[in-house]
Amino acid sequence: MILAVTLNPALDLTYAVDALVPHTTHRVTAVTERAGGKGLNVASVLHALGEPVLATGLLGGATGDRIADLLARDGIPASFRRIAAGSRRTVAVADGLDATGFWEPGPTVTAGEWRDFVAHFRGLLPGASVAVLSGSLPPGVPVEGYATLLALATDAGVRTILDTSGEPLRAGLGGRPDLVKPNAAELAALTGDPGLDARSAADHALALGARAVVLSRGELGLLAVTPDGVFEAAPPETVAGNPTGAGDACVAALARGLAARTPWVSLVADAAALSAAAVAAPIAGVFDADAYRRWTDTTP
Ligand SMILES: Nc1ncnc2c1ncn2[C@@H]1O[C@H](COP(=O)(O)OP(=O)(O)OP(=O)(O)O)[C@@H](O)[C@H]1O
Ligand SMILES: [Mg+2]
Repeated sequence: MILAVTLNPALDLTYAVDALVPHTTHRVTAVTERAGGKGLNVASVLHALGEPVLATGLLGGATGDRIADLLARDGIPASFRRIAAGSRRTVAVADGLDATGFWEPGPTVTAGEWRDFVAHFRGLLPGASVAVLSGSLPPGVPVEGYATLLALATDAGVRTILDTSGEPLRAGLGGRPDLVKPNAAELAALTGDPGLDARSAADHALALGARAVVLSRGELGLLAVTPDGVFEAAPPETVAGNPTGAGDACVAALARGLAARTPWVSLVADAAALSAAAVAAPIAGVFDADAYRRWTDTTP
């Protein structure tokens, strides 16, 4: 089973309006809601691939209940710990032209709740082959929270993937993830030098503790710097679509491949195909299964 951790999940709400006009009142023509957060996107993609997955993390309040209901509706196995403060919502107002977002800050997690989660996570590890740690840390979780979870997973013989940004990324690398998947902006923030070439930037993440780096470069595809060599994969096609969540689909493919011990060269090609198929689908956490099949069909 692949364990997908989301410490700061969200209820993603989208309001459709005819035209967004600041400082006026709008009639909302449609409301959609989904369970959001990067680890939940990873879990959703893995579940759709038929890969055994367990979503875990922290949920609180009525918003947390709603997220749990939506996961259950989609049949995604979940084992979250409850916290007292309410999970966050994100609101996107979409008017056909563009979307305008409002992101709530997220609940504050107490020291006791964090200790409780660490113990819960440790208890889930015996059933896991790979643990994926994705997204931001909610207030109250120590900045080295991911390093703590990574060390526990590694001690339990579970392989690990880290996908986060900023200080949680820097501190998390000290927990020696088997693989880290930054995008170009996240890696530039880590090195402090946006002018650095991709290979040198990836080497920087290795020096900080990652055992392998898969750098996702949007339409340029993937660059993997690993103990077995350097591998690149271009997208099977440049897709016009929704790139939000493409990185999460990429992480899902990498997790499945790590669990199956797929060789890097096939692994990065598969990750490029699955993430392109995610761009082809309008919602984060969903991919175009026909496109994915087409791009990975090796029969002559
Ligand atoms: N327009 C596109 N066409 C085809 N493939 C794409 C396109 N955009 C992204 N991809 C694929 O998806 C991968 C991940 O995209 P990207 O680098 O944007 O991830 P990200 O910034 O981490 O995304 P997110 O965090 O929103 O999920 C890219 O490395 C590439 O292989
Ligand atoms: Mg990303």
